[in-house]
Amino acid sequence: MKILLIGGGGRESAIAHALKKSEDVKLYTLMKNKNPGIAKLSEDICLANETDLEKVEEFAKKVNPDLAVVGPEAPLEKGVVDLLESLGIPTVGPSKEAAKIETDKFFMRNLFEKYNIKGSLRYKFFDEYSEELESFIDELTEKGIDVVVKPVGLTGGKGVKVVGEQLKDNEEAKKYAKEIFETGLGGGKVLIEEKLVGVEFTLHGFVDKEHIKFTPFVQDHPHAYEGDKGEITGGMGSYSCPNHSLPFLNENDVKEAMEIMEETVKALKKEVGGYKGILYGQFMLTKEGPKIIEYNARFGDPEAMNILAILKTNFLDVCKGIVNKNLNNVDVEFEHKATVCKYVVPRGYPTNPVRGREIYVDEEKIKEVGAILHYAAVNEENGKLIMTGSRAVAVVGVADSIEEAERIAEEATKFINGEVYHRRDIGKLELIKKRIETMKKLRG
Ligand code: GLY
Repeated sequence: MKILLIGGGGRESAIAHALKKSEDVKLYTLMKNKNPGIAKLSEDICLANETDLEKVEEFAKKVNPDLAVVGPEAPLEKGVVDLLESLGIPTVGPSKEAAKIETDKFFMRNLFEKYNIKGSLRYKFFDEYSEELESFIDELTEKGIDVVVKPVGLTGGKGVKVVGEQLKDNEEAKKYAKEIFETGLGGGKVLIEEKLVGVEFTLHGFVDKEHIKFTPFVQDHPHAYEGDKGEITGGMGSYSCPNHSLPFLNENDVKEAMEIMEETVKALKKEVGGYKGILYGQFMLTKEGPKIIEYNARFGDPEAMNILAILKTNFLDVCKGIVNKNLNNVDVEFEHKATVCKYVVPRGYPTNPVRGREIYVDEEKIKEVGAILHYAAVNEENGKLIMTGSRAVAVVGVADSIEEAERIAEEATKFINGEVYHRRDIGKLELIKKRIETMKKLRG
């Protein structure tokens, strides 16, 4: 079976590994840089920008695959799924219209309002800087609520700014909103949202337009440095637990988060004819329960590496279930194991990363310690591994306990060298206990 994979990062490496567990899969990958791990698993690769639909079409016609899987969000926004399906290729990923759940933040909030889905928050949409925008922020300031400023469209993870993180206070939030209108960032339209207080977590579902099958809950770590300090990154690492929940979630939180996503899938069916692919809910667990920060129309990166490492069901069967709309007949099962993923990133990441520097990875030693290795933002050039400026290499430990999974992942980082750093605290019990304490305090 020929499969076309779009994307060449850590997430797509996890997808490639999962697909290649099926012996009859022949993989063909289109990616911007040569990811050596994915290249090794592929029969053929095409080095091109994932958003270059002409190149995608050319490669797809050359390969003539039985199925395609799209990794990142940017090509979804361009309509890559619509293109591939017009060529007769069943594709795991939402249509351009359905991907608006990620690519148009106003569409997402509006969907919650229209279909009365719980788990939303106070927000307002603005297409120009106005007195109304200022007074909405002032209203929240008076109530002691900080805000989040979001460009409505995609910005490659660089657009959303949060008071208390990238913004000093609500006054600075006004200035940033003005800047978005002036520069046209993310389409030049703005959502002002109340800032949620609590603990973040991720829930994914496989969706076939009608049904959703949930995967284990995962927690990512967006801050660059240990102790949740520093800039917000794409995610420095993540963990999941053997019971598939997270230590700070109670049964009701789990149920509510799942209901929110089920309601979203139903609403998308009515609104755009259905959502197909991987749906990623980024939640904040607040004292009132789970609330949606945003949706992504794809797997999380690094979260995909946790989930797919313990997927017992053949991922190819899941993909077939998604495109054939019979996910309900696929038993989606996961091993009851803990997983810890740690990203090794270039020095200076995310604000001023070193680029073009070599990174040294001892694959054999990493295998010996029992970790899974995923290359991400690297390019293989003349036999050397060159960092391209984003998260470079990830290692995943899988074990019966979080402590053991963390130990394996941490041990593996010793065999990755260069001008790099990683967070040693991800997966450590001390940090997990901090999350539990935060929720205990908030809930009183
Ligand atoms: N883990 C963050 C993301 O995938 O967007």
